[in-house]
Amino acid sequence: MAEPIRVGIVGARFAAQFHWEGYQRVYGVPVQIVGVTSTSAGSREAFARKRGITAFSSFEELCDASEVIDLCTPGCTHEPLAVEALRRGKHVVIEKPFTGYYGPGNSAFRGNIFPKETMLREAMESCDRLLSAARGAGKRICYAENWIYSPAVQKEREILVKSGGQILWMIGDESHSGSHSPYYGIWKFSGGGSLVGKGCHPLSAALYLKRAEGEARDAKPIRPASVSARTHEITRLKRFRDTGFIRTTYDDIEDYAQVHIAFEDGTVADIFASELVLGGVHNWLEVFANNHRTRCNLSQIDALETYNPKEEFLKDVYLTEKLGTKQGWSHPAPDEPWMNGYPQEFQDFMECVNTGREPLSGGELARDTIAVLYSAYLSAERRGQEVEIA
Ligand SMILES: NC(=O)c1ccc[n+]([C@@H]2O[C@H](COP(=O)([O-])OP(=O)(O)OC[C@H]3O[C@@H](n4cnc5c(N)ncnc54)[C@H](O)[C@@H]3O)[C@@H](O)[C@H]2O)c1
Repeated sequence: MAEPIRVGIVGARFAAQFHWEGYQRVYGVPVQIVGVTSTSAGSREAFARKRGITAFSSFEELCDASEVIDLCTPGCTHEPLAVEALRRGKHVVIEKPFTGYYGPGNSAFRGNIFPKETMLREAMESCDRLLSAARGAGKRICYAENWIYSPAVQKEREILVKSGGQILWMIGDESHSGSHSPYYGIWKFSGGGSLVGKGCHPLSAALYLKRAEGEARDAKPIRPASVSARTHEITRLKRFRDTGFIRTTYDDIEDYAQVHIAFEDGTVADIFASELVLGGVHNWLEVFANNHRTRCNLSQIDALETYNPKEEFLKDVYLTEKLGTKQGWSHPAPDEPWMNGYPQEFQDFMECVNTGREPLSGGELARDTIAVLYSAYLSAERRGQEVEIA
């Protein structure tokens, strides 16, 4: 049996947990999670103890023990940690957002009012440093955009490619009632609000499908050409009436965003993202092609419908992310990680490391995503004026 691929996880909370579970479902390629590190000794030790792995007290020690470094840390840490791992000759898995702009390091920084032209330039330079570090090291960047691996998006890719379709327009959304992470809501950690934190998902899927269409027809991806966007801070409006069901503790980020993207071939996509949606995670992308129409429903799905007359009956049963209440009718996802594409994502990444091929979700797609997101912030600063993507 081949030697297992040694993976080290950085970060020991929400994303680290579903990454761990994803690796457990990889088949055909032996994988060993050697350990975890994080800035909090308590959480890395608890994470390691529960799974029988080593809690490393430093990133450098974890690197020494690993071939792949998997970053489950806030966006502000992605570039420095990934570049260091690549410099040490490791492949990297990078959660969304790939990278971004996190401020000049002073306490006066407030992302929502900081000049967006500077942010866009710096974010793109950060992308280029990451891609160049990977090229220099001869190692892979695996961009952990699970939407690319969701069965719904992969089925649409197959329909699109095999039918020779042309996507004319798309509309998609990722929204819920607010992220759990204390880092989220503060631009210097998260690199933005709903647009970067949530909009990145349907956006990457839309960019991926147009790439796939172009590659299938002309052996050349169709890439985004321009964006127009608006962002809003609805929960910080003076007249917002808080009933306690959605998170409101945001510092300097938007909680609602919409982006209109025009591709090189003139076709379009509209992406929405917000922290303002009750009733569970609302993840979907609808594709309108010249020969078919597909609704990719990631969450929620109706494979299972349950009626529960009393909240407490299901107190020990997980139904679906951010549902709010378990009383009444609900749509529990029978295998939510699979519908989200997590196990498929780690399968692809481990096969890439094993064979040396590029992942379905790699550095180029990640870079295009960041280019659209930060061009969208520039457009929003100009109240929706179209911005060409350099
Ligand atoms: N793909 C998805 O569906 C999805 C879902 C949630 C989060 N994420 C992404 O995963 C990443 C982590 O999010 P989370 O929700 O797990 O956040 P979290 O706040 O729950 O956990 C962050 C972890 O990173 C650790 N950390 C912070 N700075 C560090 C550093 N410099 N070195 C080492 N460890 C450090 C913290 O101690 C903590 O363990 C973010 O980039 C987020 O956008 C992706």
